[in-house]
Amino acid sequence: MNVLLIGSGGREHALAWKIAASPMLTRLYAAPGNPGIAREAELVGLEVTDHQAVTAFCREKAIDLVVVGPEAPLVAGIADDLRAAGIRVFGPSARAAQLEGSKGFTKDLCRKYGIPTAAYARFTSAGEAAAYIREAGAPIVVKADGLAAGKGVTVAMTIEEALTAVDACFEGAFGGAGAEVVIEKFLTGEEASFFCLCDGVTALPFGTAQDHKRVGEGDTGPNTGGMGAYSPAPVMTEDLIERTMREIIEPTMRGMREMGAPFSGVLYAGLILTAKGPELIEYNVRFGDPECQVLMMRLKDDILVLLNAAADSQLAHMSARWRDEAALTVVMAAKGYPDAPQKGSVITGLDKAGEGVEIFHAGTAEREGVIIANGGRVLNVTAMGKTVGEAQAKAYETVDRLDWPEGFCRRDIGYRAVERERKE
Ligand code: AMP
Ligand code: GLY
Repeated sequence: MNVLLIGSGGREHALAWKIAASPMLTRLYAAPGNPGIAREAELVGLEVTDHQAVTAFCREKAIDLVVVGPEAPLVAGIADDLRAAGIRVFGPSARAAQLEGSKGFTKDLCRKYGIPTAAYARFTSAGEAAAYIREAGAPIVVKADGLAAGKGVTVAMTIEEALTAVDACFEGAFGGAGAEVVIEKFLTGEEASFFCLCDGVTALPFGTAQDHKRVGEGDTGPNTGGMGAYSPAPVMTEDLIERTMREIIEPTMRGMREMGAPFSGVLYAGLILTAKGPELIEYNVRFGDPECQVLMMRLKDDILVLLNAAADSQLAHMSARWRDEAALTVVMAAKGYPDAPQKGSVITGLDKAGEGVEIFHAGTAEREGVIIANGGRVLNVTAMGKTVGEAQAKAYETVDRLDWPEGFCRRDIGYRAVERERKE
């Protein structure tokens, strides 16, 4: 089959790598892709926001399945437009993508279906939001309603900080995404990411992972898109997975069906494991980046079989099998990330990856045969190991073979799991 993959990050490189390994694949195209993806796919210069152009390309190349990596095209309705043209897609409709596109939408769904999540209120004006914050006290969490590239959330330790975040939202710090604000109770507990493949009716559990959102070691400094991840997340026991399915995922699938917006694609639940049990802090409607990288390394099955089943509402008959090893990925970012990453520096040593280690490209570009940094998060060095500790050691061994003085990474990715392993 012919597949078009949309996106250009490390997540899409991992998807391309896994899709390219499928015996079902005839040709893989990627738009816009990156130099790593170019090793697996033919890159096409399509303007992804131009849905008509994407549709025309799919017809011309007889594309059998479009796989959408990032959230923005989904929220913009690319899956709807392709399906309307009779083209099969892996990814949710614009209405279903509201689970990520509007935090208020998701909170209201949680309230209606009794899904455990932090108590909250929605606001469209700073005055009312401020009154609520003063009443509720700190710590408290302020979230821009819409898509804000992972930057719209402030975990405020003081009332002052929360008020500043509210003002920033309403003054346009996140554009239209901040026209409405969700304010919610601060939850304490360890965080975990839980993934499901969905086909509108069935949600198939598709692995767990832990991300490292802060830029600095020991989880310090500003939030980022994610500085590294590992899978599985040992904190997500079988019992917690079962509860998450029953208390969070299943009611969400039912709720979306009942409102006429059945969810298909990846449902990625960001959870906080509180003393009471798992609570939802957010949904994403696509794979995590860099969580996808570790999931693809661990997946034994043919990803195309699973993506096809999701697109055809056949997931009830499927299971996903995983390698026994753990996978861990270290994000290498350009110095200055997340505020002002420096672009243009040369990276060498990319051919020195250790045995079983994959270097996925994120923000790279190729200039006269040389790979250069072209974004914030640039490379994802991804390794497998019998334990998270072993995967960690292998990943950093490859990191140290790369020659890129203008790049940096956190040196403690996986520390929680490694500590757990030491105690066992
Ligand atoms: P989000 O973009 O919703 O994933 O939020 C970014 C980060 O903010 C999360 O990974 C959590 O660390 C933190 N966060 C979000 N909501 C809450 C909450 N209600 N309580 C505590 N921390 C939160
Ligand atoms: N790594 C977090 C995310 O993809 O949203």
